[in-house]
Amino acid sequence: MRFDIITIFPSLFDSYLSQGLIEKACRDKKIEVNVHDLRCWANDKHKTVDDKPFGGGIGMVMKVDPIYKAVKEIKKNKGKQKVILFSPRGRRFNQKKASNFADYDQIIMICGRYEGVDERVAKYIADEEVSIGSYVLMGGDLPAMIVLETVSRLVPGVIGKENFLEERRKESAFIEYPHYTRPEKITINGKERVVPDVLRSGDHKKIEKWREKKGKTIK
Ligand SMILES: C[S@@+](CC[C@H](N)C(=O)[O-])C[C@H]1O[C@@H](n2cnc3c(N)ncnc32)[C@H](O)[C@@H]1O
Repeated sequence: MRFDIITIFPSLFDSYLSQGLIEKACRDKKIEVNVHDLRCWANDKHKTVDDKPFGGGIGMVMKVDPIYKAVKEIKKNKGKQKVILFSPRGRRFNQKKASNFADYDQIIMICGRYEGVDERVAKYIADEEVSIGSYVLMGGDLPAMIVLETVSRLVPGVIGKENFLEERRKESAFIEYPHYTRPEKITINGKERVVPDVLRSGDHKKIEKWREKKGKTIK
């Protein structure tokens, strides 16, 4: 599966992509991640990618033409592709959406900055506007990392628990339950805190029930 990220701050991704399971997934060729500097598609010698808003108002707006050229060049014409524009006005990203995105061969993510992005990008270039929550960030780069990481987890071989993940992918909801590991006992702020007995009981039916009861359903 291939991810293409269009941003004006490509180096933000350097550290993120060079560590942990994402780095391994790239190395093992389970996923391919390309980070593109939008300024490469700017029209002028100053590499301008923003301009003043028509109608006045504060802040600058990201120009449509460099984004159009970038997407046109990056988009592969084979397999299933999706072009995402990050926006606080978009549809909320969740696990179900991640499962849906995992079925694509190429996901192109456009990271907005400034006061926003020329509306023609949402209308005529992107397939979908995606929000990661009801708050406003400074840019779409963190949302791109969130989508990349959530979708990559669902790509076979990336976290090495394929059967388990396959189950998750088919269901639209699943349970995230509390986890414990050693030590069994620890004193925190003067009180002894222990691992629940049931988890040390070896009774898998009981453990499953406990996890269902204590877990939270993620949709
Ligand atoms: C300062 S915000 C722009 C806010 C602008 N007034 C708007 O409504 O789109 C700059 C960029 O950050 C990204 N962004 C901010 N909050 C976001 C969120 N909750 N989800 C996804 N992207 C977000 C978008 O790409 C946005 O274009």
